[in-house]
Amino acid sequence: MAMKNALSWILVLFLLVSVLNNCLNNSVKKEMKQKLAIMENLRKLYSSGDSSKWPKPILDPESVSSYAEIGHLPEITFPSDNPYSVEKETLGKTLFFDPRLSKSNQIACASCHDPELGWCDSRTFSFGHDRQLGNRNAMSIFNVAYAKALFWDGRAKSLEEQSRMPIEDHREMGEHMDMAAGKIANIKGYEILFEKAFGDKVVTKERISKAIATFERKVRSSASKFDQFINGNAEIYTDDELMGLHLFRTKAQCINCHNSGYFSNNKFENIGTALLGEKGEDLGRYLITKDPDDAGRFRVPSLREVSRTGPYFHNGSMTTLEEVIQFYSKGNPEHSQKRSTVYDGKTLKSEKSGMVRMLELSDLEISQLEAFLRTLSSKTEKVSIPELPQ
Ligand code: HEC
Ligand code: HEC
Repeated sequence: MAMKNALSWILVLFLLVSVLNNCLNNSVKKEMKQKLAIMENLRKLYSSGDSSKWPKPILDPESVSSYAEIGHLPEITFPSDNPYSVEKETLGKTLFFDPRLSKSNQIACASCHDPELGWCDSRTFSFGHDRQLGNRNAMSIFNVAYAKALFWDGRAKSLEEQSRMPIEDHREMGEHMDMAAGKIANIKGYEILFEKAFGDKVVTKERISKAIATFERKVRSSASKFDQFINGNAEIYTDDELMGLHLFRTKAQCINCHNSGYFSNNKFENIGTALLGEKGEDLGRYLITKDPDDAGRFRVPSLREVSRTGPYFHNGSMTTLEEVIQFYSKGNPEHSQKRSTVYDGKTLKSEKSGMVRMLELSDLEISQLEAFLRTLSSKTEKVSIPELPQ
C-alpha cells in the first residue's frame, strides 16, 4: 500500500515537472523567436539600400543641427584652383614617396604615412629628422579629401596649405620649402613630370604642394563590408556586426559625433583627453584659436579604416579598439585628471562634452560595436611604389 502511494506521488511529481518544463520551454522559445524576428527586421531595414527606412538614430539635441546619416563616401571633389589630372596625381605620388624633400634626404611623407600601415605609421608618436619624436599620433591620409580642416587641431585649412608644414617642421622633415623645391628642380628626371602636370618644367613650391594635395585626395577607401551591407548584400553581416551598427546609432550614440559617410562631423569636440596639468598635456584646438572654450577639443577623426590605423587618439594613448569602446562606455571618468591648468599665464578649464557619458554597455555590446567598427575597413590594396626620378 505504502509502496503504491509513493509510486503515485512520484508520478504526480513527474507530471508536474514536465508540464512546468514545457511551459518554460515555450516561453524561452517565444523569446528566442521574438529576438530572431527583431534581428531579421533590423537586417532587412539596414540592408534595404534606403537609409530613410532605418530605425531613427538617438541623438543629443546639440548634435541634431549638424547631423548627417552614416553611409557611403560621396564622390571626391577638387578645388577649382587645383583641378584633377592623372599627370598631377602621378607627380604628387612621386613627391610623396621622395625623401629628397627632407633635409637629410632620408624621410619622405610616406615614412610616416605608409600605405602598408593604413597610410599612417603604427607608432604612438612618429619620429622624423634626427629621429626626433613628435608629440602627436600620425593621422592616416585615407579619405583626407573629406576633412574640412587638417591635423588634430585643424591648423591647416587645405591640403595645399598643409603639405608644406611637415617639410618645414624641424622634427619631421626639417627642410626649408625653398631648399626642397631647389633640390627637386635640380633632378633632371622630374622635368618631364612637371611638364606633363603643369604644361612646363618649372618647379615651384606651389606646384609641389598642389601635386601632393591632388595625390592625397585620391587616397580613398574602396567599398567596405559596411558599404556592401547597406547596399543590399543582407547576408554579408554577422548578427554581431548588425547589432554593432544598431548600437552605434542608438544606445551608444557614437553618431552624435562620428557621422556622415566620412564617419566624422568634421567638428572639434572635447572627450576629456587633454590631460590637463599632467605630463603630455595637450590643449588641442585652443592652441590655434586661443578661445578658452576650445581647450581640450580635438578634431573628430573619421572611423573608416579604423581597424588599421591604431594606436588611437591624438596621443596614441590607446592600443586597441576594445580599450577605446570601454573608455566611452565608462563615460571617461577622468579620475586622476585635473580640472584646470595654467597655460601662458591664463587659467584654462577643459569641459568634457555633455555627449560623453556613462553608457553601461555589456561585454557583449562592446564586442558587437568592435565587430561593427571592423567592417568599416576595406581590403588592403597593394600600392605600387613609384620609381624615383634621377
Ligand atoms: C615624421 C613623421 C611625419 C612625416 C614625415 C609626415 N607626416 Fe603627415 N602627419 C604626421 C603627424 C604626427 C600628423 C598629425 C600632426 C598633428 O595633428 O599635429 C600628420 C598629419 C598629416 C595630415 C593631416 C591628416 C588629417 O586628417 O588631418 C596630412 C594630410 C599629412 N600629415 C600629410 C603629410 C605629407 C603630405 C607629408 C610630406 C610632405 C607628411 N605628412 C609628412 C607625421 C608625419
Ligand atoms: C562628443 C563627440 C564624440 C562621441 C559621442 C564619440 N566620439 Fe569617438 N572621438 C571623438 C574625438 C574628438 C576623438 C579624438 C580624441 C583625441 O584624439 O583625443 C575621437 C576618437 C575616436 C576613436 C579613435 C580614432 C583614431 O583614429 O584615433 C575611435 C575608435 C572612436 N572615437 C570611436 C567612437 C565610438 C565607438 C563611439 C561611441 C561609443 C564614439 N567614438 C563616440 C569624438 C566623439
